[in-house]
Amino acid sequence: MSAVRAHRGVVAGEYVMTAEDFAFIAGVMRDSTGIHLGSGKATLAYSRLAKRLRALGLESFKDYCALVGTPDGADELQAMVAALTTNVTRFFREPHHFEALASEFQTRLAEKARAGQPVRLWSAACSTGQEPYSMAMTVLDALPEALDLDVRILATDIDPNVLAEARAGTYAAEVASAIPSSTRARYAAPGGDRGAYTVSRQVRDLVVFNSLNLNGSWPMKKKFDVIFCRNVAIYFDDATQERLWGRLADSLVPGGLLCIGHSERVSGPAEARFHLGGLTTYRRSAT
Ligand SMILES: C[S@@+](CC[C@H](N)C(=O)[O-])C[C@H]1O[C@@H](n2cnc3c(N)ncnc32)[C@H](O)[C@@H]1O
Repeated sequence: MSAVRAHRGVVAGEYVMTAEDFAFIAGVMRDSTGIHLGSGKATLAYSRLAKRLRALGLESFKDYCALVGTPDGADELQAMVAALTTNVTRFFREPHHFEALASEFQTRLAEKARAGQPVRLWSAACSTGQEPYSMAMTVLDALPEALDLDVRILATDIDPNVLAEARAGTYAAEVASAIPSSTRARYAAPGGDRGAYTVSRQVRDLVVFNSLNLNGSWPMKKKFDVIFCRNVAIYFDDATQERLWGRLADSLVPGGLLCIGHSERVSGPAEARFHLGGLTTYRRSAT
């Protein structure tokens, strides 16, 4: 591919992406996902979407935008969202959240589950599954009989490609190496292609994966005891973030735990509904 150059709002290389094309793409992303693509992201959008133009045999971003804007372009809209979302994740990322989760089970949630009550956890923006599986391993360490009780982890994402990988539960050796070795020995088995690991059936059975847009409607009726919503709000503009924090507060039981990403902060009216209990770890107030 020829070098990509950006000049006065136009990005050019193999294709030309004008300022209008980029504005259209950014508008579609904002309306369909809440993701804010500032003008500094034009080169990134170009390089991620050039592959789509090639795959579709299109000659320009103008044609691509025309396709995405029609009802026939619904599948391509999904492919565009998948191409423009960032899916970086790892097992036990931000370990203090998993310590908080373990402590939540040791102090309250194990007892609640053993008393026959439902315990619900949510990994909201789970990417390829490392986050909810790390949650499941933490839960099983604290409550080995979790599967026999009413304990479940809902894991959702907007991108069907990452959900398919998450459901498969198989990870390359270097990805699985982020699981502490004693935990990995208990909850993942080697044997896949080139030293890959697959998470155990027990871990997978605790997690239910579903497609969900955090800026769409949420079908869940029950409230959650714990929500991990990490490293996704950062891609939304301020108003969208504030709305999300409010909806997450509504979705937590009083006293429930919310863990957010290392560079995120609960803002807006919802701030008054949480107490900051630790680094990016919030507890919903009782009212
Ligand atoms: C950087 S990953 C974070 C993964 C994980 N939570 C972590 O912290 O390691 C962000 C994820 O958010 C998802 N995402 C982006 N916008 C979304 C939206 N509107 N609704 C649901 N998921 C979204 C992306 O598909 C991506 O998998």
